[in-house]
Amino acid sequence: PIPVIIDCDTGVDDALALLFAVRHPGLDLRAVTCVAGNTDVDGVVRNTLTVLEQAGAPDIPVGRGAERPLLEPARSARHVHGADGMGDLGLPPPNRAAAALDAVTLLRREILAAPRPVTLVPTAPLTNIALLLRTHPEVTRNIERIVFMGGAVATGNATPVAEFNVWHDPEAAAILLTAGVPITMYGLDVFQQVVVPSPEVHRLRASAESGTRLAGELLAHRPTTPGGDPEAEEAGGLGDAGAVCAVADPQGITTRLLPVEVCLTQGPARGQTVVDRRPRPGESEIHEGEREQSLVDVALEVDVERYVRLYLATVTRS
Ligand code: BDR
Ligand code: CA
Repeated sequence: PIPVIIDCDTGVDDALALLFAVRHPGLDLRAVTCVAGNTDVDGVVRNTLTVLEQAGAPDIPVGRGAERPLLEPARSARHVHGADGMGDLGLPPPNRAAAALDAVTLLRREILAAPRPVTLVPTAPLTNIALLLRTHPEVTRNIERIVFMGGAVATGNATPVAEFNVWHDPEAAAILLTAGVPITMYGLDVFQQVVVPSPEVHRLRASAESGTRLAGELLAHRPTTPGGDPEAEEAGGLGDAGAVCAVADPQGITTRLLPVEVCLTQGPARGQTVVDRRPRPGESEIHEGEREQSLVDVALEVDVERYVRLYLATVTRS
């Protein structure tokens, strides 16, 4: 299996991503690290530990990471993810605490100890990853690829042009994009497309198995219409879980290697991922003057049915 580490801000859809990663036979989830984003970092740690327990994986090391972005103050997304950051589903508190090691130290240890190069999957603001890359640059020798949920080619969500994870800590995202490791950007353009239809969500919610049932409850909390009623409309987006699908089944997305830069200036474009889609002489040719390290495999299309099928088949395993 592919060694994987998820860095998250659990988060309704981060929880969907964790459930998938734990249950996919082709993935070896070696650690999970937490960062402030959807809610404060202690809330993220609690949610993450609870979800791993419900998924039947109570032993995966969980590291507590950054409390706030590199430069910005912390800002939560409670309006999207509920007061507890997890849809206010009334989940029980976890039975254990986070690892004694902080997230960055845990990431370093787990990456360097992995039997083969690790795929890192950040589904949150990139603060922990930026700190890791700056503090322990040697980790890149055992990183296969970073597949991150963040950014947008077209429209944003936190602002008209910026996606939440990049907008929350733009400097951290810029550090990631110039790290010199292969990167896949699973941005809003594909993220928003993968929706599980109501009948399937209903079936998950009726399951006798706790992890499967949790997936259903979480999906129902992500109605396709903003502010929609979860009882009336159970269909819900996979969100961050789509990025983990892209690790397990990369054929499900169509990517192009494109220059991507984060807008770091103050003003309405701060946090925008500027993706250069101008026609180029050949897909593999790099324009003169382009910095090679800013080229990113950007997901432009996703096979929605394929990922919905994959997700359902995976989370119903136990
Ligand atoms: C991202 O922001 C968070 O609220 C979600 O968990 C996802 O990672 C989408 O912009
Ligand atoms: Ca997230």
